[in-house]
Amino acid sequence: TALLLMLLVVGLAGCGKEEAETNVGKLHFENPLKIPQLLEPIISADGTKHFQLAMQTGTTEFFPGKKTDTWGLNGSYLGPTIMVSKGDNVAFDVVNKLGETSTIHWHGMKLPAVMDGGPHQMIEAGATWSPHWTINQPAATVWYHPHLHGKTAQHVYRGLAGMFIINDQDSKKLPSDYGVDDIPLIVQDKLFTSKGQLSEKDDTTFGTLGDEILVNGTYDPFLKVTKNQVRFRLLNASNARTYYFGFTDGRSYKLVANDAGLLQKPATLDRIKLSPGERAEIVVEFKPGEETILHSYSSGSGIEKGEFDLLKIVASSKLTESAAIPEQLSSVPPIEIPKDAKVRQFKMTMESMINDKKMDMNRIDEVVPAGTKEIWEIDNFGWSHNFHIHNAAFRILDINGKKPPEYESGRKDTVFIPNGSTVRLAVEFGDYPDPNHPFMYHCHILKHEDDGMMGQFLLVKPGTESQVKTKLPKND
Ligand code: C2O
Ligand code: CU
Ligand code: CU
Repeated sequence: TALLLMLLVVGLAGCGKEEAETNVGKLHFENPLKIPQLLEPIISADGTKHFQLAMQTGTTEFFPGKKTDTWGLNGSYLGPTIMVSKGDNVAFDVVNKLGETSTIHWHGMKLPAVMDGGPHQMIEAGATWSPHWTINQPAATVWYHPHLHGKTAQHVYRGLAGMFIINDQDSKKLPSDYGVDDIPLIVQDKLFTSKGQLSEKDDTTFGTLGDEILVNGTYDPFLKVTKNQVRFRLLNASNARTYYFGFTDGRSYKLVANDAGLLQKPATLDRIKLSPGERAEIVVEFKPGEETILHSYSSGSGIEKGEFDLLKIVASSKLTESAAIPEQLSSVPPIEIPKDAKVRQFKMTMESMINDKKMDMNRIDEVVPAGTKEIWEIDNFGWSHNFHIHNAAFRILDINGKKPPEYESGRKDTVFIPNGSTVRLAVEFGDYPDPNHPFMYHCHILKHEDDGMMGQFLLVKPGTESQVKTKLPKND
């Protein structure tokens, strides 16, 4: 009977559900990595940088001869890279040519709530949304993507996302020649049908988990580098999958930035884990003529499972010497919490709830004094989740009472929370009080977010917390 039972178990495990969670051995690294174009602003007399973005439908040839239906911004898949400097005044016209409502959220940006592009800043089909703000935060790799409540997973999956780079005097000391030694890497897993269309099958606990990888919308990519030090901006723009980045030859590299800015000092590592929405900037050294493969290693079950080759990197036989990486990277001190800081607690559960509630667009869950620092303590009671806070940057104080791994020791806005874990964050909120328009906090596994694993907080003038309404008018 033991043998029979074993056969039964093996049989069950082998049938159906589980997708092949690897692409190893399948790739030939044949396609030059696409580099999203830099979006050129129009600069008005007062110095404001005006950017034009069009959300549109189209087709993309990921596989030769196969046209895949996709969405993009100013193109058929993904969007252009926006590059600005601290202190810039920026203005956008985002026109929606999708034929249905969407939004564009600036993930990682400190800005007024009405400019945030969350679920309340809907852009109807055919309409143009024109947010504007001043870039008022340290250099970081942020990004943009739709945030329509209940539709975020679908809109991002179809291709709406792009990188948004903020520079300052610190970040400019690192390799900064965009497309040459400063390379965006937007990593996404996809499921394709046999006809080469994107499959939106999302029947796992975490939604769609793909068995193919696109980097910057390129299938089977390689990149040729010409400098001996190259900065890569890693962005996990996947719906659910978590990557554990390393190189197949075992080389180490320097981590120079987490989500929300540069580290104090570079950290030498050979693995970095990024869950959806998280970013990391790394600097990799190359010798003339060598090759290596950027790879994602399996680091657990569920969204952490799977082995993927991501990108082959080929160094030219002659490499230009780059300037040395500074020992001191950021001039911004780490986030410190005052002794009497308020502590808020959040409980994430298997049913995609936060504090036993599902997202309600008309309910305010938290009221936070603008410009303050607080401790947010998040307990995960079931499945893997992560936690993202709008208009804020944080430092991880501890995970289950222990210091966080070095690869997430810097400024962040999104944090992975393993099943059964407690994470404490020192959160620094932006200084944009508005008693009428909320910011979001949520799980960035997009199916969970769409299912309601999201809450809303108001930032208000300190001292006015008790005066605000915690019900929003129906037609916000
Ligand atoms: Cu990247 Cu609230 O989102
Ligand atoms: Cu965000
Ligand atoms: Cu989740």
